[in-house]
Amino acid sequence: MALIITIDGVAASGKSSVARRVAEELRLPFVSSGLLYRAATVLALRESLDLSDGAALLAALEHFSPRLIPDAAGNRVLVGTDDLTGALHTAEVDAHVSQVSQHPPLRRWVREQLRLLPPPFVVEGRDMGSAVFPEAAVKYYLTARPEVRARRRGAERDLSVEQIEWALRERDRQDAAQSAPAEGAVLLDTSDMNLEQVVERILEGVRA
Ligand code: ADP
Ligand code: CDP
Repeated sequence: MALIITIDGVAASGKSSVARRVAEELRLPFVSSGLLYRAATVLALRESLDLSDGAALLAALEHFSPRLIPDAAGNRVLVGTDDLTGALHTAEVDAHVSQVSQHPPLRRWVREQLRLLPPPFVVEGRDMGSAVFPEAAVKYYLTARPEVRARRRGAERDLSVEQIEWALRERDRQDAAQSAPAEGAVLLDTSDMNLEQVVERILEGVRA
């Protein structure tokens, strides 16, 4: 069976940076599943949809059909020829994505898109090891203390570290249902590790 490595974890725990570096070392593609939820949120906000209306959100996804492009330099999301990538990581999307992502029909749509991708690959998100690729050979779950995650994300958002930490805690709370570690996942608290140490630890696990 072709290798699938899942890296799940809480917001700003380092999933995408780590997945990207691990994939680079193993010469595999990496896949950022959260971008599809972020794209659904951008489309819903642009269309002024009711974010509590799962059927309307699913209809929008089916209509616009956003495609995740697992580029090694950074995953992108396209709608037709329109590149949504630059609109995905804003404070507004951060604030609404958990509400959008909790709808089961929408989660099924994302799961189906992801399962079309041909392994091997490294994939990161919340439920990659538990719900989407339970058959994965290697599973990790990253955490870090909220204040550490807020400091790290501080470099990427135009908000104070306190505001970011509040938003991260809020998103952790809303994401909890779809974010439980997969059975058999190795838990890694990255609070006191740098990026390369986390990558090295995962590579050791893959090679073991
Ligand atoms: P996630 O995908 O979980 O939201 P990111 O990979 O976007 O997290 O990481 C958030 C920020 O934290 C990035 O700027 C990244 O470079 C940095 N980062 C990630 N892991 C570490 C680490 N172990 N040590 C220091 N900085 C990190
Ligand atoms: O990088 P960060 O953790 O901040 O966010 P992300 O991975 O891009 O995910 C954004 C949001 O999408 C999360 O807060 C979840 O609400 C949702 N998500 C999910 O429900 N399941 C996934 N597999 C990935 C993301």
